[in-house]
Amino acid sequence: MKDQIAIAILGAGLGTRLKSKLAKVLHSVAGRTLIEHAVRTAREVSEGNLIVIVGHQAEAVIDALKDLPQQGLRFVRQEQQLGTGHALQCARRQLQTAGPHLLVFHGDTPLITSETLRRFIASHLGSGAAASVMTAEMEDPTGYGRILRAPDGSVASIVEQKSATPDQRRIREINTGIYCFETHQLLAELDRIPRDPISGEYYLTDVIGLLTHGGKKVLPYRMADASEVIGINNRAELAEVDALLRGRKARALMLAGVTILRPETVMIDLGVEVGPDTVLEPGVTLAGETRVGENCRIGSFSVITDSELEDNVTVKQSCVIGESKIANGASIGPFAHLRPGSDIGPGAKIGNFVEVKKTRVGRGTKASHLTYLGDAVIGNDVNIGAGTIIVNYDGEKKHTTVIENNAFVGSGTRLIAPVRVGENAFIAAGSTITEEVPPDSLSIARARQTNKPGWVTARKRKAGKKSPEEKNKTQGKVLEPALGDRKKKPAKKQEAAKQIE
Ligand code: UD1
Ligand code: MG
Repeated sequence: MKDQIAIAILGAGLGTRLKSKLAKVLHSVAGRTLIEHAVRTAREVSEGNLIVIVGHQAEAVIDALKDLPQQGLRFVRQEQQLGTGHALQCARRQLQTAGPHLLVFHGDTPLITSETLRRFIASHLGSGAAASVMTAEMEDPTGYGRILRAPDGSVASIVEQKSATPDQRRIREINTGIYCFETHQLLAELDRIPRDPISGEYYLTDVIGLLTHGGKKVLPYRMADASEVIGINNRAELAEVDALLRGRKARALMLAGVTILRPETVMIDLGVEVGPDTVLEPGVTLAGETRVGENCRIGSFSVITDSELEDNVTVKQSCVIGESKIANGASIGPFAHLRPGSDIGPGAKIGNFVEVKKTRVGRGTKASHLTYLGDAVIGNDVNIGAGTIIVNYDGEKKHTTVIENNAFVGSGTRLIAPVRVGENAFIAAGSTITEEVPPDSLSIARARQTNKPGWVTARKRKAGKKSPEEKNKTQGKVLEPALGDRKKKPAKKQEAAKQIE
């Protein structure tokens, strides 16, 4: 197919109906920009010439594609967006050398699959037609161009919604915006497109009428499934297509052995991979290029972005994990936050309300409760007690903390970085560690406790106040029942009231 067919993607428009500052093709569905969807699909169809017409926010659109293979990819600028026909006029020079046939599609139709496009091209190449138009029957065709058929069933012309008569608007067969042209036939008509009197644009759809007028054949290629060709023109369609793409993704994962509880509630980007026997609970989000291994369990409402989870990892409910690595058998959460650069070792445990940033946590190490670990290197089998805080920031710079294997950090410890805790060291709870703790030693860094018996009563007496016990005695204290009790037991309430009288 490579030599036969070149591809042009139209992506220069602003997308006025999205009511956005961002160009339409830079909006995302299922974790990828619309233009990336289009280019990836085109690349699956053919590795030959690919022309992308850019205009609005051209630099940003080009930048959004920088991680994809660039070979054979050419960008053409349409400085002023004067319509879909004008877009191809701008690419005239590139089209002249592109190849005998041209597949054209829009950057706003991301559900189209490469298989469908391949079948469409094959049908076009086999037909000898000057052009083929992919069509579909839409339940609600509003907004789309309508297909006007010739008596022999071929396409006579396409009429846009704005120019259509009431009768034409009742036609439900629409133009998908996906065409195959014999390139030289297209080039012969491109400059003859009239300016539309209503919108002032040059419509690519008018090429079809020009071809048939000149006696050329244009064949329809009618899609059985209209959902593949939904074009995105507003935010409602953006949401609809996003849901359809994510539905496809979830289904593919389930067929590959992933259990998804309530699949309609999960949000999985197309770039995500999940291994078999992993369970995703309702409401899970897996974003970006996240990889989840086999036999993991991801708890409800956890959001995992651009991270790598090996096999047998448990992420309990409501965790936020970004740009992090979690090794085999580790357990995270609930309510844990792994920020970029967290690297959690095999079998380690990061418990509730624990935040980790740019920190390596060794094999079997546990930080189970209410802890901050930042800019640290923590060895194997370390115990980090509840409420431990690594004080990594002095207001100007971040400093590193090292905790070696088998160390025990008592609850409520503050480690003022830079600091090192040696192997097998033991830090007493509540310590503020400012200096190195040598291996195998106990460190206590807190003020010694003093108790002063009877101090409270003595102070109150001095101030002329009674202690709680003395107060109760003098008032013959009967406590009022709590509100809930009062409602349930009215008899007792009255009794209590009497006693107070
Ligand atoms: C277009 C078709 C319509 C079809 C529908 C299918 C025309 C005139 N109409 O309408 O028949 O049913 O697609 O989805 O072609 N673009 C440019 N430069 C421009 C204008 C648009 O590159 O000057 C690009 C846009 O970025 C977009 C694509 O062309 O990716 C289609 O433009 P859009 O405005 O969405 O056309 P529709 O109104 O959807
Ligand atoms: Mg459109």
